[in-house]
Amino acid sequence: MNVPHEHGQRSREAAARGLTRRRLLAAGGGALGLAAAAGVGYAAGADDAGAERPRGDEVVPFEGARQAGIATPAQARLVFGSFNFLGADARELRELLRAWSDAARLLTIGKPVGTPAGAPLLPPVDTGEALGLPPSRLTITIGLGSELFERDGEDRLGLRTRMPAGLRPLGPLPGDQLDPARSGGDLCVQACADDPQVAFHAVRNLLRIGRGKVELRWLQLGFDANTATTRAGDTPRNLMGFKDGTNNIKVDETDRLDRFVWLDGGEPQAWMRGGTFLVARRIRMLIETWDHSPLDEQERIIGRFKVSGAPLTGTAEHDVPDLDAKGADGQPAIPLDAHIRLAAPKDNGGATILRRGYAYTDGIDPRTGLLDAGLFFVSFQRDPHVQFAAIQRKLGTMDGLTEYIQHTGSGLFAIPPGARAGGYVGQTLLG
Ligand code: HEM
Repeated sequence: MNVPHEHGQRSREAAARGLTRRRLLAAGGGALGLAAAAGVGYAAGADDAGAERPRGDEVVPFEGARQAGIATPAQARLVFGSFNFLGADARELRELLRAWSDAARLLTIGKPVGTPAGAPLLPPVDTGEALGLPPSRLTITIGLGSELFERDGEDRLGLRTRMPAGLRPLGPLPGDQLDPARSGGDLCVQACADDPQVAFHAVRNLLRIGRGKVELRWLQLGFDANTATTRAGDTPRNLMGFKDGTNNIKVDETDRLDRFVWLDGGEPQAWMRGGTFLVARRIRMLIETWDHSPLDEQERIIGRFKVSGAPLTGTAEHDVPDLDAKGADGQPAIPLDAHIRLAAPKDNGGATILRRGYAYTDGIDPRTGLLDAGLFFVSFQRDPHVQFAAIQRKLGTMDGLTEYIQHTGSGLFAIPPGARAGGYVGQTLLG
């Protein structure tokens, strides 16, 4: 097989696996036809979440009743972009979302968004850095921020009456140390893939396509999926060294997803049916302080054993925590300020969220010389006020973890339903 323009380790791996962008192109047919021809169709939330297969070749379809990147087994890497919308009216927003959706349809099957070798006197349409790389399970999830609907009391795009109730700002939450330069945004793009360059290429090209209509407000890279979203394999560990996602909703738990994540007829805004709400929190860990705290203290703060991930009342990771058990000293075996006690649905009126977080590092904090690293927390829920914010209000005031973390960025976005065949994300809102 002749695969021009391929270089580097990733390309060699892709070639070894026998499927490249070039080969997908050669398969011919429409976007979804290509995926099917290559035998790599893969449904978001499919119940084969745990199946072993070479991940680089897998395609997660962009189109569907629901957007991908939510009930999709977490890919290894994240690039999350938040954008300011510069357009003047809803028509320009529609054009942007249509163009982004058309591009996403190509990117997610491993195709460039246009010819990278066109007219020599014009900039190439596709920026080129993903040529030769396989689809890598890329998902592109597009969200809408509250200021698209209303900014400073102004109905800027004529959409105010269409704003979903769940999108009203979360307001200050206990423990907030938010940097405005890392918070908010009119639009978001969550790109997840098993290859960091594929994810970066996606956001970069959407930015390029949106030139003049959007500007980047903040960008966050996540280098490792930190929260388990499937039962397959070992539970990943966060940068505090603890298994994360043991008690998360898993992407094949369709009943729980319907109950806690996907909007049905409950939201007064019918255009959001099949959608959800995304909360992003950039949570810096005070890693140097954490690394000097004794193991016993770390375990009491989380409420689980570090190595096994078992609750302090059990011996195996998936043992159910006994929140009523007392230790030999008569005190609660899982301390009253332990993270898993305070975050448990039982303690929060049943509030349950789908967590899909990534580890991040942004080098060194120049003010202190300490590591700037932590968890880029992402959660999906039907009502961020009743679910995420209710839990965070408790964590921010009582959680033993608060001494070791700072919430430095925040975003809340409505995630509309997925694009229908040939349609675009946002069509149910903008027609
Ligand atoms: C850097 C910050 C955080 C760290 C290091 C962290 C770590 C952990 C760990 C190790 C677990 C136990 C394993 C598991 O079931 O996933 C856990 C559970 C959980 N966390 Fe966090 N977490 C953080 C922030 C948050 C935030 C901001 C929320 C939501 C507001 C949250 C909600 C939850 C929930 C709902 C559970 C499951 C509780 C249960 O039902 O057992 N976490 N977290």
